[in-house]
Amino acid sequence: MECQRDNIEIREATENDWMLIYELYSSLTTEDLYLRFFHFYKFSKNDAIKMTTGKDHVTFVVLVNGKIAGEGTLHLSGELSLVTRAEFRRMGIGSIIMKKIIERAKELGLRRLIFYTLLENAAMIALGRKFGFKLEEDEDTVIGVLDLDAKTKGRVIETSSQ
Ligand SMILES: CC(C)(COP(=O)(O)OP(=O)(O)OC[C@H]1O[C@@H](n2cnc3c(N)ncnc32)[C@H](O)[C@@H]1OP(=O)(O)O)[C@@H](O)C(=O)NCCC(=O)NCCS
Repeated sequence: MECQRDNIEIREATENDWMLIYELYSSLTTEDLYLRFFHFYKFSKNDAIKMTTGKDHVTFVVLVNGKIAGEGTLHLSGELSLVTRAEFRRMGIGSIIMKKIIERAKELGLRRLIFYTLLENAAMIALGRKFGFKLEEDEDTVIGVLDLDAKTKGRVIETSSQ
C-alpha cells in the first residue's frame, strides 16, 4: 500500500505533459520497455509527444508528490497498456491507472477492454486478474479481456443508500 502521506494525482495527460512521459520512459529498463512494447524499443521525444496529442487514445499520468510515477493509455479500440516507474511498483499505482481506464472506457461507451502481455509478465497478469479480466494464453502471450456492462454507458456507477 502507498504511504498515507503521499499525494497521488491521476489525470488525463495534456500536451505539456510530454516531458513527464519522456522522463518516465527514460527511467525504464530495456526489460520494462520490452514488456511494454513486446520488442526492444527506444522511446523517443516524438513518441512522448504523440502520446499526449494523438486523437485515437486517451493517456493518463499519475504523479506521486509531483513526480511522474506511471502512465496508462486507453485506445478507442478498447486496447489498453500501462507502465509504472520501478520504484513505485507494488504500491497500488497500476491499480489506480487500471481503475481510471475502466471508468473512462465506460464513459466512452466502449464494450470491452483488451490487453496483450507476455506469459512471463506476472505483474500484468496479476493486475488483469485483480480487475476481473478473462485471461487466455496464446503461445507466449496472454490476452486479457474485460466485457463492460453496456448499461453503464455514459456514467460512473456510484452506490448510495441515501
Ligand atoms: C504491470 C505493472 C504496470 C503493474 O504496476 P504496479 O504499480 O506494480 O501495480 P499494483 O501495485 O497496483 O499491483 C497490482 C496487483 O498486481 C500484483 N503484482 C504486482 N506486481 C507483481 C509481481 N511482480 N508478481 C505478482 N503479482 C504482482 C500486486 O500484488 C497487486 O495485487 P493486490 O492489490 O491484490 O496485492 C508494472 O509492473 C509495470 O509497469 N511493468 C512493466 C511494464 C509492463 O509490463 N506493462 C504492461 C504492458 S500491457
